[in-house]
This record gives sequence, structure tokens and C-alpha cells, in this order.
Amino acid sequence: MTLDRSIRIAPSILSADFADFGREIRAIEAQGADWVHVDVMDGHFVPNLTFGPPAVKAFRKHVRTVMDVHLMIAPVDPYIDAYAEAGADILTAHLEAGPHIHRTLQAIRGAGMKAGVALNPGTPAESVAHLLELADLVCVMTVNPGFGGQKFLDMTGKVRALRRMIGDRPIHIEIDGGVDPVTAPLVAAAGADVLVAGSAVFRGGSVDNPAPYGDNIRAIRTAAEGARAAA
Ligand code: DX5
Ligand code: ZN
Repeated sequence: MTLDRSIRIAPSILSADFADFGREIRAIEAQGADWVHVDVMDGHFVPNLTFGPPAVKAFRKHVRTVMDVHLMIAPVDPYIDAYAEAGADILTAHLEAGPHIHRTLQAIRGAGMKAGVALNPGTPAESVAHLLELADLVCVMTVNPGFGGQKFLDMTGKVRALRRMIGDRPIHIEIDGGVDPVTAPLVAAAGADVLVAGSAVFRGGSVDNPAPYGDNIRAIRTAAEGARAAA
């Protein structure tokens, strides 16, 4: 079966109210989120620290769509089973997180999850050439990972190269960092289908006033779909 490449918006709860994750997750899903993106940071692979498996397991109870867990940690392998147990649907590891990404992707699938591989801005598309049979998603970072709200780095050339390499394989191309209604069209036209957005989804809203989340999600989706249609 061919992969459904329609545009998916994956709000990052890194921009949510950290005291109210359950309601925030329910609010973004009610407002049209396709996936829920969970950023796990270890203060070592990236200079910021977020949450571990017990927190992710608690989020799971509120996620009705797809829980997309982005690991910015090193090492990865000792924690794969914990994130499977926490209920991740997709587990993405960074290619730069260790010498054995091939083994890591095998282990993620072996634990029953879909496997993603993320590329830092400095890592070329070609680095996944020998991993495509093991990956369900390639995440192209359009910021240096670690923080929300950073300026978008133009990686459209890398996205185009990946789209060509992937061909008919059932692999999503996800973009993470600085996605908003201005930058989404660039990556959508280049071949991306999953758009992570933190600050551009949560700005202007709250759990008590969630309508702006919906407006923000629709604005990103409309801009991306328009560019896709014109490409
Ligand atoms: C950055 C994270 C992103 C982040 C995106 O390291 O991986 O998912 O939350 O935030 P924005 O959309 O604000 O750039
Ligand atoms: Zn992320």
C-alpha cells in the first residue's frame, strides 16, 4: 500500500504549559492536531532537559492520535524498551547520537514501534542512504535541536534530495524547527509531509482559550497544502 502523504501537523508540547500536559494534549487534538510530538532532551546530546519515560507514559493516556516521540538523547539503545512501554507509536533517534544508528533503528522496530531517524542541520541527506529499509520516518531538523522558538534554517535542498531518495518507499519526511505559515510552504513544496510546530501552534492560546491553537494549525496546514498543490 502506498503511504498517505497528505500534510500532517504535529504540535510539539515543548511549547505547552508544563503544569497542564493532559489538558494541553486534549486541546490540540480537539483543535485539529494530527499527531502529538514529544521532545525528549537529556542535557547531554542537547543543552536542555525535558522529560523521561514516566512522563511520556502519563502523556499517553491523553493521546488519541499518534504519539511521535523525538529523542534528543545519547545513548539511545538502553532506553528503547522504556519508550515502547511508555506507549510511543513512533520513536525517532538522532543519527548523530551514536555510532550504531542502524542497530538502533532495528531495535526500535523490534520493540514494536515505528522507527524514525533525525538529522541535525549539518548532516547530509546521503547519510540515510543505507538506512531507508529500516526507517518509517526521516526527521529533518530545521533548527539545531534543544529549544523551541528558534529561527528556521532553510533545508529545502536536503528535503528535495530525501524525497528523491525515498521514492515510493513508505517513509514520512518530517520537518522540525521554526515551522510556521511562512516556512511550511517551502518544505511542503520540497516533499515534506509531517510538520512539527511548537511556538507557531501554541502562540496566542491556552487550555482555557484553545481556539487560537486551531487557527494556528489551520494556517500552517492551508499554507503547506497550497504550496504542495502549486509544486
Ligand atoms: C527542537 C524540538 C522541536 C521544537 C520545535 O529541538 O525538536 O520539536 O519544539 O519548536 P518550534 O516550532 O517553536 O521551533
Ligand atoms: Zn522535536
